[in-house]
Amino acid sequence: MPETSPFFDIQACVFDAYGTLLDVNAAAMRCQDDLGEKAGALSDLWRAKQLQYTWLSSLMGWHKDFYDITELSLDYALETLDIGADGLKKKLMALYEVLDTYPEVPDMLAQLKAAGLKTAILSNGAPRMLATATHAAKIHESLDAVISIEDAGVYKPHPDVYQLAVDQLGVARDNICFVSSNGWDATGAAAFGFQVAWVNRAGLVREKLGFEPRAELKDLSGLAGLVLPA
Ligand code: LAC
Repeated sequence: MPETSPFFDIQACVFDAYGTLLDVNAAAMRCQDDLGEKAGALSDLWRAKQLQYTWLSSLMGWHKDFYDITELSLDYALETLDIGADGLKKKLMALYEVLDTYPEVPDMLAQLKAAGLKTAILSNGAPRMLATATHAAKIHESLDAVISIEDAGVYKPHPDVYQLAVDQLGVARDNICFVSSNGWDATGAAAFGFQVAWVNRAGLVREKLGFEPRAELKDLSGLAGLVLPA
């Protein structure tokens, strides 16, 4: 495991949502009867294309919200894999709105709140998607803010997005721990000046752009131990 640097003076933990708190594979996994052996490939391609479309959208100066981006990327993935079952797209989109959280998430958020830290989501997700997902997962009461990139009109990793957390929480960037399982998001957040924890759920190698996370975790269960004073 690569080096970990200590976190210092953390006043708020800001979380990416999709892939970090919410399991983006849960929708396809719940449709395994329909998708058969294509479930894994569908989930991976859907996610990869969804992220590509966010980056394209930002670069092109053409904005669609994350619900529309998610639907367009699902169209691409279903067509690529030649999956055409009636009603399946609707079912997958409905499941995407109520994704499972990873099992350690509720306790981890409760621990941070009990210690007096502010907690927030900062996500590409459209406000309605994030409201539905956090209520379905029953984590909304453990969050001080649920911030959508829609307030910036551009997707991650544009610095204007990370600035939303500073402005809406009233906490300086130096005092924010940003937590993401997406290596590129962790890179963007570190470049912005957050102290970053990368949740490397997939066991990937580190990004190479030179903006290092302070810590790399397998899941979120060890986060409180890193960011709370001993
Ligand atoms: C999000 C995507 C990047 O929640 O996972 O912002």
